[in-house]
Amino acid sequence: MGITRVAIAGSTGSIGTQTLDFVAQSEGQFEVVGLGVGSSVDEVIAQAKLWKPKVVAVANEDARKRVAEALPEVQVVAEQTALAEVADVVVNAVVGFAGLSVTMSTLQQGKRLALANKESLIAAGPVVQPLRKIPGAHIVPVDSEHCAIHQCLRSSGNEHREVQRLLLTASGGPFRGRTKESLAHVTVEEALKHPTWSMGPKITVDSSTLMNKGLEVIEAHELFGTGFDQIDVVVHPQSVVHSMVEFTDGAVIAQLSMPDMRLPIAYALSYPQRASVPFGAIDWSTLARLDFEAPDTQTFVCLNLAYEAGRIGGTAPAWLSAANEVAVEAFLSGKITWSRIPEVIDATLQQHDGLVPTIVEDILHADALARRFALQVLAA
Ligand SMILES: NC(=O)c1ccc[n+]([C@@H]2O[C@H](COP(=O)([O-])OP(=O)(O)OC[C@H]3O[C@@H](n4cnc5c(N)ncnc54)[C@H](OP(=O)(O)O)[C@@H]3O)[C@@H](O)[C@H]2O)c1
Repeated sequence: MGITRVAIAGSTGSIGTQTLDFVAQSEGQFEVVGLGVGSSVDEVIAQAKLWKPKVVAVANEDARKRVAEALPEVQVVAEQTALAEVADVVVNAVVGFAGLSVTMSTLQQGKRLALANKESLIAAGPVVQPLRKIPGAHIVPVDSEHCAIHQCLRSSGNEHREVQRLLLTASGGPFRGRTKESLAHVTVEEALKHPTWSMGPKITVDSSTLMNKGLEVIEAHELFGTGFDQIDVVVHPQSVVHSMVEFTDGAVIAQLSMPDMRLPIAYALSYPQRASVPFGAIDWSTLARLDFEAPDTQTFVCLNLAYEAGRIGGTAPAWLSAANEVAVEAFLSGKITWSRIPEVIDATLQQHDGLVPTIVEDILHADALARRFALQVLAA
């Protein structure tokens, strides 16, 4: 088995740095050939000096100039799309809709996409799906729930038949068990205190509203072709069961491990083999209990909004995701309260124009339009 060439878009973030950590422990199985960031100059220069990639992509113009000056021997470019040109597998660890070009370009070039960036698939599902038929193009999910389902389906030996439903587990986030009233004045700091996972700020806020789980429902629909009536969410506070597949005979296959994103990252990079470095192995002598409960959709209405947008289809998921990004950014910068997040998304979705996308420009248009409406709702 030869060395796998890896490029990481979003290399300075939570998933990006954990990917590099896994590669560092994998003793020459992988070569880091590309790194991509938004604007973190010092961090990406340090990573490039260590990993010696061929290409570094920097979205922000000023940051790019500084990175190019510091790394004269490296090709420093603007577009993250350059990463797929030099790699066998691209990890899309960009946060938000900005990850779309990475998803598209990797599949267009017939490469494996280790997909953490759920927003690109959710917003652009109808135009991403045909790209999956390109020879060599292949998505292996990094999101822990979808990676779990991928493993369960694979283990069943029958990936496309006899599936009754997918069961996505959710930790419930930092506000599990709280009432709507008690959540009226929660702070950013409280929302960022996730009980089981350490992640970037956007996904951590999404976990606190259950929008993350809603986005994952749409992601599961896109990845596995499962209907929305056959995707259920189960709250599981310990985050040990990462998701499950129920088959037509009632049997359920689950994937269990301690919460550690390096396991799904390692799975996606090593596929179809298993990684030789173990992460998240369970100590069964100390694992006391596994609890499960239904999600509280009265309090965490974002989950309902996501099902609603998913069922509408077309560009509705793009609108949902764009409105959510605007609302979460406004919450993180102190402009709105946590409880306003679903209100902004709901009000934006009411304006959805019903467009069914056929080309990527339709998705870009939908994203821009939804952001404009969401900003208007914020300003009202
Ligand atoms: N963190 C987790 O455990 C986890 C689990 C499951 C799924 N995910 C998904 O993985 C994705 C990344 O999450 P994260 O938590 O790792 O986010 P994060 O820590 O906020 O990191 C985001 C990364 O994206 C880069 N970036 C931002 N804007 C960019 C742009 N315009 N072009 C190129 N790169 C850009 C950032 O670069 P700068 O440093 O330069 O800003 C950074 O490297 C999200 O879609 C999330 O939903 C994450």
